[in-house]
Amino acid sequence: MRIDIITIFPEMIEGFFNCSIMKRAQVKGLAEIHLHNLRDWTTDKHRRVDDYPFGGTAGMVMKVEPVDRCITSLKAERDYDEVIFLTPDGEQFNQPMANTLSLANNLIMLCGHFKGIDYRIREHFITKEISIGDYVLTGGELAAAVLVDSIVRIIPGVISDEQSALSDSFQDNLLAPPVYTRPADYKGWRVPDILLSGHEAKIRDWELQQAVERTRALRPDLLGE
Ligand code: ADE
Repeated sequence: MRIDIITIFPEMIEGFFNCSIMKRAQVKGLAEIHLHNLRDWTTDKHRRVDDYPFGGTAGMVMKVEPVDRCITSLKAERDYDEVIFLTPDGEQFNQPMANTLSLANNLIMLCGHFKGIDYRIREHFITKEISIGDYVLTGGELAAAVLVDSIVRIIPGVISDEQSALSDSFQDNLLAPPVYTRPADYKGWRVPDILLSGHEAKIRDWELQQAVERTRALRPDLLGE
């Protein structure tokens, strides 16, 4: 999968993609992540990517021209499954959306800044508008990083123990059960006996029961309750 991220602050998220599982996915050739500095696509001599809004409202608006030049040049090279705009008024991101997007070959993600972007970009280029939650960030960069992380980690082969991605919270509309590691007794805080019993089937039953109980207590909406 190839992901092209268009931003005015590539340095804000560059380091994130060079760590841990995001880095491993790229080294294994399973994901290519390209950051594009929008300022490289402006013909303005001061490299300005924003301007005053028509109509006199406060704040600055991202200009159509540099975004048009950048996206048009990317689209001339390959077909894209989606051109995503990160925005607080988009559809709220969730695990099923991550699963669907992980099947894509090529994605563009556009990070907004300032008051917003010239609406013509949304009308003419954007195929999906996504929010990561009901709060406003200073820009779309962190939201793009969240999307990329959740999408790339479930590409087959990225996590060596694929079972571990499948048993994540939300993959089956259940929160994950508690997990423990050694020592079995720490200051008298004991791991549940069932996990030390060696009864594989009983352990799976216990995990499912814990998952359902935690979901009912913390996120009853996931159970439709
Ligand atoms: N840009 C600013 N806030 C955002 C949010 N909550 N989700 C996605 N993009 C954003």
